[in-house]
Amino acid sequence: MSYENITTTQKERVHYITVNRPKQLNALNKATIQELHEALKSAEADENTRVVILTGSGEKAFVAGADIKEFADFDTENGKQLAAEGQKKLFDFIENLSKPVIAAVNGFALGGGLELAMASHIRIASDNAKLGLPEVSLGVIPGYGGTQRLSQLVGRGKAMELITTAGMISASDAQNWGLVNHVVPQEELMALAEKIALKICNNSGNAIKSAIKAVNANYQASVNGYEVEVAEFGNCFGTPEFIEGTTAFIEKRKPKFK
Ligand code: HXC
Repeated sequence: MSYENITTTQKERVHYITVNRPKQLNALNKATIQELHEALKSAEADENTRVVILTGSGEKAFVAGADIKEFADFDTENGKQLAAEGQKKLFDFIENLSKPVIAAVNGFALGGGLELAMASHIRIASDNAKLGLPEVSLGVIPGYGGTQRLSQLVGRGKAMELITTAGMISASDAQNWGLVNHVVPQEELMALAEKIALKICNNSGNAIKSAIKAVNANYQASVNGYEVEVAEFGNCFGTPEFIEGTTAFIEKRKPKFK
């Protein structure tokens, strides 16, 4: 499939998706959100894909936010629709993908850009990255899940400060806050993302799918995460990957998951 605003490549079992609007600092317009949705949907369906690496093109930005030029004249209803559609198609969609998505944050991750990274399962950053939710400086608030996910990741106090000041934090502060897992020089970012991706590829895709479901259950109102964990734990038993994993352990060899 060919896209206008993103590029995709597959290397062995890793699927790479790059937001490719460098002149606009990879801002997310509607078309880009739709293309990201399509690309993630195909990665989910592709048996050969085990993990996704998501990044931005150029050296300056991961994603500098939703495309401000596109919503500058919106009214209340348009605004609600923009947020709801985006959350459904992209942000919640990523969070609930059965394959881990690694956000390789290679520069500015602002507004919808930070929200995109936060919806991903794993975040790493280059040392030039700057992260923030500047929406209140535009007279709006984060609308792609930022008020919820930032609080989950860094706690309510730090989230309130970042959101109400509309400030940006450095990659190293983001690491101290627990917002990104690792920080490396920009030229080492993709190598680190690949190293993490390859480790994931060695494990059972079926079990990873269950693990993502169980971890996410902790953040869903009216769902008992412990019950989801028990159910998913049970679902793993008897699967070919469970049989291969346990047999390999007993036979003192590395498992080979298909
Ligand atoms: C549209 C954007 C953009 C954005 C940058 N550009 N961010 N266009 N939407 N979010 C465009 C600029 O207009 C400019 O285009 C080009 O990219 C380069 O940007 P500059 O501002 O010239 O670069 P620089 O001076 O280096 O500043 C970098 C920056 C700044 C600090 C990242 O661009 C910036 O503050 N951007 C906006 C960040 C932001 O507020 N994000 C949150 C958006 S709201 P031209 O054509 O002029 O060269 C949001 C809401 C999500 O995300 C929820 C929705 C429901």
